[in-house]
Amino acid sequence: MAKHRLNHLLQRAQEAQKRAYAPYSDFPVGAALETTSGTVYTGCNIEISSYSLTLCAERVALFKAVSEGERTFTRIVVSAATEAFCPPCGACRQALADFAPDLEVVMLNNKGETRISKLAELLPEAFGPEFLDRENP
Ligand code: THU
Repeated sequence: MAKHRLNHLLQRAQEAQKRAYAPYSDFPVGAALETTSGTVYTGCNIEISSYSLTLCAERVALFKAVSEGERTFTRIVVSAATEAFCPPCGACRQALADFAPDLEVVMLNNKGETRISKLAELLPEAFGPEFLDRENP
């Protein structure tokens, strides 16, 4: 990927992180999800007072994109306010893998450093839509 393209995605994730609504954890996360056609959908974590209703940044970005008709994705940037890289949680890995098992996952820390991984490495032997295929759908 062109360097300026990655830099743009990193910036979009950082901007989204600023919009995080995380009053309970104080752990803001931003995500920028790129479609195969190059459109970018952002997301931030949104926490709810009944904690388990909280949504992660990654799934907010994914659901925004899918709700706009997008189905195929190339990479996601996950930006956190910590020095430690923030990997997508298990639920987000599954949700992302349903649409993009070959997704590239770029983690961005608060020093502007990145760590790049593949979703297939983060979620090996994943369940997926293919397991639900019926002979007579
Ligand atoms: N969170 C994300 O948004 N993405 C991740 O990859 C990990 C966790 C959020 C959920 C919750 O609002 C806060 O971070 C602490 O778990």
